[in-house]
Amino acid sequence: MTKMKSEILITGATGNTGQATLKRLIENNVPVRAMVRVLDERSKALEEKGVEVVQGDFSDYFAVKKALRGIKRAYFCYPFKDGLPKAATYFAKAAKENGVEVIIAMSQMNVHDRSSSPATQNHLAAEDIFNWSPVPVVHIRPGLFAWNYLSMAGPTIKQEGKFYFPNLDAKYTIVHPQDIGDVVANLLVSDHIELHYGKTYELAGPRTYTSHELVKELGELLEKETEYVPIPVEHWIENVKQDPYINDFLAKHLKEFSNDIKQGLFDKNNDHVATLTGHEPRAFSTFVKENIQAFQ
Ligand SMILES: NC(=O)c1ccc[n+]([C@@H]2O[C@H](COP(=O)([O-])OP(=O)(O)OC[C@H]3O[C@@H](n4cnc5c(N)ncnc54)[C@H](OP(=O)(O)O)[C@@H]3O)[C@@H](O)[C@H]2O)c1
Repeated sequence: MTKMKSEILITGATGNTGQATLKRLIENNVPVRAMVRVLDERSKALEEKGVEVVQGDFSDYFAVKKALRGIKRAYFCYPFKDGLPKAATYFAKAAKENGVEVIIAMSQMNVHDRSSSPATQNHLAAEDIFNWSPVPVVHIRPGLFAWNYLSMAGPTIKQEGKFYFPNLDAKYTIVHPQDIGDVVANLLVSDHIELHYGKTYELAGPRTYTSHELVKELGELLEKETEYVPIPVEHWIENVKQDPYINDFLAKHLKEFSNDIKQGLFDKNNDHVATLTGHEPRAFSTFVKENIQAFQ
């Protein structure tokens, strides 16, 4: 069987939103290439699903250029690590040289120019780099990933029925990773992608939560007594630093991130998921049910 040529590239392909985007594209039989940082059992699993896998590190310009060869549309998803502006510069330059039609770029809902978070500053710089590049871009700015709650709430809800989180007295929106994957996948195959060029889409879940409301919903779903325990931001950061995913760079971001929640930067509702995917955004409860073993 001759394999169809992939004209779509997914970066961050072994990560949350990369996986969710690939899932949707594979289900729709769209030929796709994935750039992975390392070749391992995860990249092998992708190959077994028919994905063309290329190895490439964002910090290696020539690897990125090779990954983009023959590609028309690409999803750029840089991890929560330092180095995003350089990666965006390499990606934009390699995309231009390969005649890429459009880049769908992951950013975050709380991008603003007064932030002292290195992650937010980097996202802002990367957005500018893509805006200045001749290759059209579509920016994706999601709210809090539901995935965060596997580590932020899962272990303590499971063991003690408690969710330790700063008292931010604010509402925030939580987005299901598959909704992000569906948005990115739909844009990547859109027949009218030019209508989205230069647009920025904030992605929200179906409702916003205070921490009290969130824990109440968790308790109802798990049918157990649950309690929200407000703690100082510094204690919360010390707690979450136990998670190996939380590198120093991300830990520095968390303080500013909690301040952004407090300022209401995640208190947003919109219909972008629905208009870009044709379905309503998935509820946080759907994510919890799908990952119930992490909470119970
Ligand atoms: N968490 C949130 O609430 C939230 C909200 C809004 C926006 N965001 C943004 O979402 C992005 C993260 O997305 P995600 O959660 O889908 O990603 P993720 O799950 O953290 O995965 C990151 C991916 O990037 C790959 N990667 C890491 N270093 C690389 C390198 N040097 N070169 C090439 N690939 C590399 C990883 O591969 P390995 O696994 O092999 O390292 C992995 O596939 C961040 O930019 C963050 O700011 C997050």
